[in-house]
Amino acid sequence: MSEPLSESKVESLRAETPGVDHVIHFNNAGSSLPPQPVVDACVEYLTREAQTGGYETFDRESAAFQRVYDAGAKLLNCRPTELAFTTSAAMAWWRSFEAVPLQSGDRLLMSSTEYQSNAFGFIQAAERGVEVEVIPNTESGEIDLEALRSMMDERVKLVSVTHVAMTNGMVQPVAEVGAIVADSDAMYLLDSCQAVGQLPVDVQELQCDFLSFTGRKFMRGPRGTGMLYVRDEVMDRLADPTYIDGRSAQWIDADTYQLHPTAERFELGEVSFAAKAGFGVALDYAVEVGMASAAARIAVLSAELRESLNGLDGVVVRDTGRHQSGIVTFSVDGADHLALQQALRKRTINTSVLSAGLSHLDLAPRGIDAVLRAGVHYFNTSEEIGSLIRAIDECR
Ligand SMILES: Cc1ncc(COP(=O)(O)O)c(C=O)c1O
Repeated sequence: MSEPLSESKVESLRAETPGVDHVIHFNNAGSSLPPQPVVDACVEYLTREAQTGGYETFDRESAAFQRVYDAGAKLLNCRPTELAFTTSAAMAWWRSFEAVPLQSGDRLLMSSTEYQSNAFGFIQAAERGVEVEVIPNTESGEIDLEALRSMMDERVKLVSVTHVAMTNGMVQPVAEVGAIVADSDAMYLLDSCQAVGQLPVDVQELQCDFLSFTGRKFMRGPRGTGMLYVRDEVMDRLADPTYIDGRSAQWIDADTYQLHPTAERFELGEVSFAAKAGFGVALDYAVEVGMASAAARIAVLSAELRESLNGLDGVVVRDTGRHQSGIVTFSVDGADHLALQQALRKRTINTSVLSAGLSHLDLAPRGIDAVLRAGVHYFNTSEEIGSLIRAIDECR
């Protein structure tokens, strides 16, 4: 484990985060506080568009967008050409999922922590005759690797795992799953929406074929941004994306188009270029901060928060698994969690509430109706944790 970010580094990161002067922000798993350089990049791009025209600004600035792919490649340890810019994590996930050629009788194995829109994809696949199976968990809550190994056969075409659930701070053993899937012909799809930006994520170590994440959460980018990684080696085995335009493909003659040879085939031409400019800065910022020391700081702070919550009567920390992230989920006996969240917000403390309906395979089987979630980021402080704990105690 690396050394956590130093206190002086955290101070300088906070000085670059205007939001910390206004709120105590623990909604980083919802949408985090962007640093000033990200805000500046978006605002400046938008201003240039307003002053000189959208297409004209793009022509002048287009080279700068290479930063999105170069910084993304550094962050994930892949090639820039293996990355597609998308407008959200769900869009990134769907662009890859729909390209996996699944047929009736194929098997698809999924984690119990799957995000809801992924589950919608699996329900549709099951309706087309794909056999969808949930990988069992160990007693501590994460994917049972032995069970997964015994489930693998030549009919398994896709293994899908949500790296860190939005309703449970547990980190799935994603590299170990990757090693098992790599021994087969199946593809490996990782939803790392809640992991990228708070944990080191190296696609070579994980051996995944696809990985999706969003800009606005732990990455601290603008809303309306996301990214898809597609391993070069699987590109030839994929079906054509459903929606393509002049960025994804070239119109060769009246009856023929040719897909872009790289992951660019998963992009569409029209996006918010101001947001894309900001996302490029956020990716560089994460690389510069260093994910190993960011994760080490988040581990210290979130352990402190879990311990303090455990010290409050009637509060139960709900995270499972042997490895936990900055997402801290808990319930408060007898509390209306939505009312509690609103009361915290009145004190300018941001958290979120998640109900069992968002997680039918995780919260519901554990008999949990709702959890309050604090997503701890590296820019949070022990003082802020103290304020949150006091406020929960006073507001419940
Ligand atoms: C695990 C996970 N995957 C995917 C998503 C979807 O992200 P987006 O809203 O950017 O599509 C979320 C959002 O909360 C999430 O928590």
